Amino acid sequence: MARVIVAGSVVMDVVARAARHPRPGETVVGDSLAYYPGGKGANQAIAAARLGVPTRLIGMRGDDDFGERLARYLREADVDTDTLLCSPEQPTGTSLIVLDADAENTIVMLPGANAGLRPSHLNNVDFGSDDLLLVQLEIPLDTVEELLHRGRAAGARTILNAAPFHPGCKSLLPITDYLIVNELELAALAGKEKIELPPTTQHLRRLLKQCRAFPAQTLVVTLGAEGLYCLGPGGEWRISGHKVRAVDTVGAGDCFVGAFAVALAEGRSCEEALRFANAAAASSVEQPGAAPSMPGRASLSRWLAERKISMLLRQ
Ligand code: RIB
Repeated sequence: MARVIVAGSVVMDVVARAARHPRPGETVVGDSLAYYPGGKGANQAIAAARLGVPTRLIGMRGDDDFGERLARYLREADVDTDTLLCSPEQPTGTSLIVLDADAENTIVMLPGANAGLRPSHLNNVDFGSDDLLLVQLEIPLDTVEELLHRGRAAGARTILNAAPFHPGCKSLLPITDYLIVNELELAALAGKEKIELPPTTQHLRRLLKQCRAFPAQTLVVTLGAEGLYCLGPGGEWRISGHKVRAVDTVGAGDCFVGAFAVALAEGRSCEEALRFANAAAASSVEQPGAAPSMPGRASLSRWLAERKISMLLRQ
């Protein structure tokens, strides 16, 4: 069976809820503080594993309490952590997150041990031609590049979630089969200041064509509550967002990416994979926390059934 192999960050999220985000120089009094497992790599791996596809995580944590808690959480979610390394020098990555009353977030991510994952650590990593390799940009760029080259050489399909945006990621596009970005990352990639929401399909098509590295590449831009747009070799799709009771938007993009990879691993078409991922991500914002909000197969089935959305789900 196809595997999902995620290479990326492992982070403890420290989440403060407040009525609104502070302005520069301002102090606001918050409502609550919580610690949740997170990090784009870990979130995507947990999303994939909970949805039932064999999943491995390549990453680096610190030799500390956060690191141990995160490693345990990943194992309990059925993620293969044999390639989750432990840094003796750097602490586990931490993200400082503020969530406002509309469940919108801002994040400052401190890489810690994630920055120590170097290409030289990848000697024991191997890929099969059925595998889907999933990478983001919270680990060093040269490590991501090495992984994409290796994955492609083995015939695996490669997915780059260019988040958070790094100008150097442009050099990764020729070795990326599927590029997934949000509207801020797309704007940065296309050299624009911002994209007005909701954007026209024509505008998105123009920007994605500008970023496309080769004709067979698939490019997806997620638009939060507005859904998504995808330009691929087999067509283009503009898919609306689902109506949700948003509690916490942290990790919704990661849920989309992990679920998209699962659907491709199961042999679904690009359009089916987009619809599946769009639903999974929408369901995740109704739960608190990043990794804890990733739905399992059964809970996603219930969520879809409640909304009378018919979608074939392998049990
Ligand atoms: O994408 C959300 C994730 O980004 C959070 O879990 C946080 O840790 C940051 O890395």
